[in-house]
Amino acid sequence: MSSLQNKVIWITGASSGIGEALVYECAKQNAKIILSARRESELVRVAKSANLTTSNFLILPFDLSDTSQVKELAQQVVSTFGRIDILINNGGQSQRAEAIDTPSETERTLFEINYFSAVNLSKAVLPFMLKNKSGKIVVISSIAGKFGFYLRSSYSAAKHALHGYFESLRLEVENKGLSVLLVCPGKVKTNVSLNAISSSGDSHNKMDESHENAMSAQECAQQIIAGILNDKEEILIGGKELLAVKIKRFFPKLFGKIIRKQSPY
Ligand SMILES: NC(=O)c1ccc[n+]([C@@H]2O[C@H](COP(=O)([O-])OP(=O)(O)OC[C@H]3O[C@@H](n4cnc5c(N)ncnc54)[C@H](OP(=O)(O)O)[C@@H]3O)[C@@H](O)[C@H]2O)c1
Repeated sequence: MSSLQNKVIWITGASSGIGEALVYECAKQNAKIILSARRESELVRVAKSANLTTSNFLILPFDLSDTSQVKELAQQVVSTFGRIDILINNGGQSQRAEAIDTPSETERTLFEINYFSAVNLSKAVLPFMLKNKSGKIVVISSIAGKFGFYLRSSYSAAKHALHGYFESLRLEVENKGLSVLLVCPGKVKTNVSLNAISSSGDSHNKMDESHENAMSAQECAQQIIAGILNDKEEILIGGKELLAVKIKRFFPKLFGKIIRKQSPY
């Protein structure tokens, strides 16, 4: 793909953080953008800040944990713009609670938001992409999709599950003109820790120190766009925390020692 000009790009989690930054980067390249998240007023704010003209964007608010309407929403996008070129499954919610304290209801919610939402939305979009013999599905996983970590048992499990599902899907659709990009951010400065679900089911409501001093959402979004344009299959984005992925792969015992010494925050 040489540019995003006139590409129809659907971004979930577009009301904040990485998704908001993706909207700005895609708008700079004159893409047609569908913005989704729960908070409609925030989506309107983002569309305004991105200077999108009426014919170039569509706001589709919905809750990722409610998959009942995704087929209709996909149809609405195609009725408006004629096709869907890129779906970016970005919306998500992290966790800050020990496994023992996390009720099974919360575990299921974390899977609905971080795993099933991406699967269901992708399946709603796939028939249109297959018909066009063209399309890219982008999935924002995490380095927590590469190794487990304190206070993130269900979040990490849901992110790991994304890899199994979307690596399989890639094999099934790549000879039909479609591609899949898995993105694993490390630490990015967003509200992800504030919005993380705690053991009570409420928001954690604290900014983790490691996120406070992390890469900007804008830089992360620019690297995601580069991954899309360069037709990558998987990219890692972040700072020195990414080393852990390589250390786990090549020196698993050393990884075990290092990971135990890290702060959960
Ligand atoms: N920041 C990091 O360090 C980091 C690292 C690795 C992976 N990630 C991943 O990056 C993605 C974006 O997170 P972020 O860092 O940008 O965090 P964020 O600022 O908290 O943004 C999360 C976005 O997801 C949306 N969202 C959350 N729950 C939703 C629901 N039930 N239904 C619909 N939309 C929902 C939120 O919108 P509403 O509240 O308006 O619904 C918001 O737009 C997530 O998948 C996250 O797991 C982030």
